[in-house]
Formats: sequence, C-alpha cells, structure tokens
Amino acid sequence: MSSKDQIITERIPKHVAIIMDGNGRWAQERGQDRIFGHINGVKSVREVVEGAAELGVKYLTLYAFSTENWERPEKEVTGLMELMVDTIHKEVATLIKNNIKLHVIGELSMLPEHAKTALNEALNLTAGNTGLNLVVALSYSSRWEIGEAVKKIVQEVANGDLDASTINQDTLQQYLYTSEFPDPELMIRTSGEYRISNFLLYQLAYAELYFTPVHWPDFRKEHLYEAIVDYQKRDRRFGKVKV
Ligand code: IPE
Ligand code: IPE
Ligand code: MG
Repeated sequence: MSSKDQIITERIPKHVAIIMDGNGRWAQERGQDRIFGHINGVKSVREVVEGAAELGVKYLTLYAFSTENWERPEKEVTGLMELMVDTIHKEVATLIKNNIKLHVIGELSMLPEHAKTALNEALNLTAGNTGLNLVVALSYSSRWEIGEAVKKIVQEVANGDLDASTINQDTLQQYLYTSEFPDPELMIRTSGEYRISNFLLYQLAYAELYFTPVHWPDFRKEHLYEAIVDYQKRDRRFGKVKV
C-alpha cells in the first residue's frame, strides 16, 4: 500500500519547503564526481513537483543553492549553474503544460548572465499560471534576506513613507522575498542532516520539521507522501494549550 492512501486530503499542507541535500555524498558513494549527484537530483525535483501538484499543495519551495554554496570549488559551482540553465530550458514547457508558476528567491544579482536570462524567461512564461507555485531558493541566505528587509524598512522610515511606531512582525514579513507566500507548514530535509542551514529562518517559526536519511537523488513521490503522512500526525499547538 502506498503512503498516498493514508494522506488525509482535506489536510494537505498549503506550503511545503524542502532542503534538497545529499547529492554530493550520493555521487561519492558511487565513486562519481559530486556533479553526478546534482544531475541525478533533477529527477527528484521533477518527482516532487509532480507529486505536490497532484496532491494540491499550493506552494513548494526548494532550496537549490545557498549564498554559502558560492564558496564551493569553481568546478562544482559552474557545473551547477550549467545544470540549472539546462534544466530550465528542458522543463519550462512542462511547467506551462501543468499550470505551474515559477518564483525565485535569493540574491539573483550574483548569478551568471546566462542563468539570469534563462530564469527571467521562465518567470515570464509561467507568470500567468494559477496552479502550483514553485519557489526556487537560489543564491539564497535567510540572514541576508532579513538584513535586506531591514534596510528597506529603514529607508522607508527615513523617506517618511513608513511610521516607525507601526512596525511589527507583519511589517517585517511584508519586506521578505516571501511576502506573497504563506509560511511553510512542513519543512523536509534529506540526507540525515538535522539543521536549517540558513533557510527561511523567519518563515519556519512554526513549521513541522521532517528529516529523512534518504539522499536527494533517491527522493521519490513516495517519500513526499511519507513526510505528509507524518506531518498529519503532528499536534500543532502554536504555543497554546489544546482545550
Ligand atoms: C545539495 O547536495 C545540493 C546543493 C547544496 C547545491 P550537496 O551538494 O550539499 O550534497 P552533500 O551534502 O555534500 O552530500
Ligand atoms: C543547504 O545544504 C543548501 C542547499 C541544499 C541548497 P548544504 O549542504 O549547503 O548545507 P550544510 O553545509 O550541510 O549546512
Ligand atoms: Mg549538503
């Protein structure tokens, strides 16, 4: 029996976020170069996007590349950028066909020109879609995002466009890249690492965290179903007491 049969369809999380980790180790276990793991991770991306769309998840955020990942060896970084451009070109037709709207969050100015061009094309081509919102965190750092939000808020206060005494947690939320998305209810990290690695620090305040030892290139729809079944068993109290 598939875990899919155990999913309560009325309680599908609206927003699932995933730290796609373990590509390098997956490749190394096979005596291959790290990039081989990244290449094989693309199939997993396809699987979760399809799986999430079929279940009716409205937002799927995938952590694809962190700001810190720029510090990796040049060969890996260049390989990842090539893979990203290639994948966008190959997959954009499928995104359109499946009514998926692409979003990107991160410090995009750091990306090479050809990557920016490919991304902008895909963003434009899918802008009118109304199904799953696929949010790719690229050159993303949550601390940087929060710093940028603070900078914008300070500028607006200085310009007289914002009254400092009205600033609250909702104000900060509105200045994050994710302002138009609800907070994730479920955050999945693969590859057996138990950390957040600078991902959506503000937005994950009350997310349910799910960790699996499966390396990202082995992650399939069934693993997504298992995570959602586990999520649906959690008692979400938000600091309150159940009456
Ligand atoms: C995740 O896999 C993909 C990126 C960070 C780009 P890793 O490349 O981090 O793989 P491991 O964690 O070294 O195995
Ligand atoms: C987090 O994974 C970033 C992505 C999955 C894109 P890392 O592999 O970079 O994180 P650490 O180094 O294990 O914390
Ligand atoms: Mg890693």
